[in-house]
Amino acid sequence: MFSIFRNKRKSVLPLMVDVHSHLLPGIDDGVKSLEQSIELIQQFYELGFSKLITTPHIIKEYYPNTPQIIREKLAEVQMAVKAKGIPVVIEAAAEYYLEDMVGKDLTKEEFILLGPDYLLFETSYINEPAFLKDVIFNLLSMGLKPVLAHPERYVYLQNNSSLLHELVERGALLQININSLSGYYSGAAKKLAEKIIDLKWLSFLGTDCHNQRHMNALHKTLQKSSHFKKALDLDLLNNNL
Ligand SMILES: [Fe+2]
Repeated sequence: MFSIFRNKRKSVLPLMVDVHSHLLPGIDDGVKSLEQSIELIQQFYELGFSKLITTPHIIKEYYPNTPQIIREKLAEVQMAVKAKGIPVVIEAAAEYYLEDMVGKDLTKEEFILLGPDYLLFETSYINEPAFLKDVIFNLLSMGLKPVLAHPERYVYLQNNSSLLHELVERGALLQININSLSGYYSGAAKKLAEKIIDLKWLSFLGTDCHNQRHMNALHKTLQKSSHFKKALDLDLLNNNL
């Protein structure tokens, strides 16, 4: 068990590493300014996180980011964090859009990864993407470990947990959003997130924090959710990164 708030730092959180957020300013739908970025990073620190691997969207049509753009923004944020004296390690990976990977000749080297070989990806929200299983197979064949971001939020999986089970069996790892556990996104997302924990299909927890609104919700979820505590009893991979 743990207590959420302690002294100045307020928190002793067993989850020390966050693996999903949008904290690099101005390159996706996350934070808009360096000031907002620093404010949120300070709050992550106060919650008990010691490392944030932030993951800007890479979606060809909307956010055509590249590893180079991400690394340049990361360097700006790292400098500001250091100047403010916030003792949190900031790294960056990306949240890739699966549909952009269909039919591409991909190599491991072109991706910006979580740790040595985890690739965080999302899909469209409503319909099962064509070639979903093929892309997962291709990523695995390249020696990558594909991590499906917030599976609980996809309507095509909310209605079909046997498909989700098949993806897990095929080697996809699952990352759920902590705020899903309080019903922040929807009742259906909460239900599937809880099921993923109950069935021990979970590998990563993430905040997917884009803004102050998400951070405020996170405070509430961490205090209230019994499934968050249950997830911490699983062999999560967060703290290995
Ligand atoms: Fe995200």
